[in-house]
Amino acid sequence: MVRSKEEIAQSMKGRDFLMLVDFAQEEIMYLIELAIDLKQKQKAGIEHKVLQGKTVGLIFEKSSTRTRVSFEVGIYQLGGQGLFLSGNDLQIGRGETILDTAQTLSRYLDGIMIRTFEHRKVVELARGATIPVINGLTDLSHPCQALADFQTIYEQTGTFENVKLAYIGDGNNMVHSLMMGAAKLGVHMSIATPVGYEPDADIIAQTMAIAEDTGAKIVVCHDPKEAMEGADFVYTDVWASMGQEQEQKERELAFADYQIDDNLVQFAKPEFKFMHCLPAHRGEEVTESVIDGEHSIIFDQAENRLHAQKAIMAAIMS
Ligand code: CP
Ligand code: NVA
Repeated sequence: MVRSKEEIAQSMKGRDFLMLVDFAQEEIMYLIELAIDLKQKQKAGIEHKVLQGKTVGLIFEKSSTRTRVSFEVGIYQLGGQGLFLSGNDLQIGRGETILDTAQTLSRYLDGIMIRTFEHRKVVELARGATIPVINGLTDLSHPCQALADFQTIYEQTGTFENVKLAYIGDGNNMVHSLMMGAAKLGVHMSIATPVGYEPDADIIAQTMAIAEDTGAKIVVCHDPKEAMEGADFVYTDVWASMGQEQEQKERELAFADYQIDDNLVQFAKPEFKFMHCLPAHRGEEVTESVIDGEHSIIFDQAENRLHAQKAIMAAIMS
């Protein structure tokens, strides 16, 4: 059944934004198109204060530059008020339950964004809250970043048909969300990780099943050259994510053959684009020559965090 844009818009209201797999392909496309529309409005100085009078709480239990700033600025541009809430200062840091926190915050706020460690905390918060909850990164996933990345890819290509994304590196939160987005949108994706650092087996199974319906080809392997073959977009992320700092040294050894450098990118399409969610470690997962080179679109991705998250908030909270 084909739904009209108005029907899709209506179906988004009040929803949580926890994982890209929770959304239909047409709903993800709706968000991407809304993000592009809000980006144009912002640049043209056309007001779009759809969150006037609303307050969104931003809970951070991990560090952030992009997520914090893009959410705060985005809420301001939508006419609302963002409230930064450090996990260290909230009572959850002292053992108040997630469910009590969820119910209390629901009496004050119109929405909550949370960045934390265990994914189940976000699920629990969403279950207990009567207002929409947005996943601003967990150990399992980073859907806001992936949405902004697919917006960035779409702006580059104008289509998701016959687009290949190669991800080289750790099977982490970032690759999980990219796999879910790729599977939903019909984008081909090849992933190369060292042995022992593959993406989560359930997420592989889930995305492969979705990909069968959409025609996306998802390949998980250990050979970076194979994954890179014919890629339009080449993506990597840090080798040690937040919370894994103590594994840094052993990971540097395990990932030594997975650095994106001038040799490896020869296997991608000549006009490939380089992507990274940031923050990056130059000289580790990517050389300076690639990340700061002419193929890099990392700051377009960073900018699109603002527009994509405004679209999410406008869709679910207005
Ligand atoms: N990419 C990203 O989420 O960046 P921050 O950790 O700076 O928010
Ligand atoms: N995988 C990284 C992403 C940071 C935006 C981390 O979790 O630290």
